[in-house]
Amino acid sequence: KEIGKITIAIDGPAGSGKSTVAKRVADALGILYLDTGAMYRAVTLKALRAGLALDDEAALAKLAAATALEFKQTADGSYHLFMDGEDVSAQIRTAPVTKAVSAVSAVAGVREVLVKQQQRIGRQGGVVMDGRDIGTVVLPHADLKIFLTASLRERAYRRWLELQAKGDTVTIDEVEEDLKRRDAFDSGRSVAPLRPAPDSVTLDTTALSIEEVVERILALASSSFCTM
Ligand code: DC
Repeated sequence: KEIGKITIAIDGPAGSGKSTVAKRVADALGILYLDTGAMYRAVTLKALRAGLALDDEAALAKLAAATALEFKQTADGSYHLFMDGEDVSAQIRTAPVTKAVSAVSAVAGVREVLVKQQQRIGRQGGVVMDGRDIGTVVLPHADLKIFLTASLRERAYRRWLELQAKGDTVTIDEVEEDLKRRDAFDSGRSVAPLRPAPDSVTLDTTALSIEEVVERILALASSSFCTM
């Protein structure tokens, strides 16, 4: 197999650096990057706009099934998510969506719809996918599974820096509270809870730079994959 056909699963809690790292690994290998969290966020945005109750599981699943999601990479290399043809990349990162997404992503019917789409993309190979259940549910046969962690304080600090850059005036303690709440929810839910796959490699990124994490994953990718 060629390295261009590798499938890499990257899971971990919010703020562990998954998306930044996954994107860079995908760019380095010249393969696709799929941000599954963005898909749950888009369905959440649509549900909020439609005024759906976040505990109406049947309505949420139906809404997910009726949503067209498409990622497009722009000329500057950044990924944009289109929901029913609309670029929602900025809107899915707003506070109301972040607050509601754990509830929506805990709905089994919503997961069923999105996991199927993710598996269809994964089957072709040549993809780095990040999320919470990629190594355990979406791509159980991935060539390489990484579980990224970092201390709660470090993850809160990283998120806070990102929010600051966007002009948000939230405090680090508030960000930490929000992360703690989401972690507990994502790890404690009954369907596809956040947990490392038994055959995953755990990387604690608390004291590592993005470059160091990317280097380690690329080294693991080439050693776990025969390129001859
Ligand atoms: O990675 P993120 O913060 O954009 O993810 C948003 C939410 O979606 C997160 O709270 C958990 C959920 N999620 C999930 O349940 N399964 C995935 N594969 C990806 C995200």
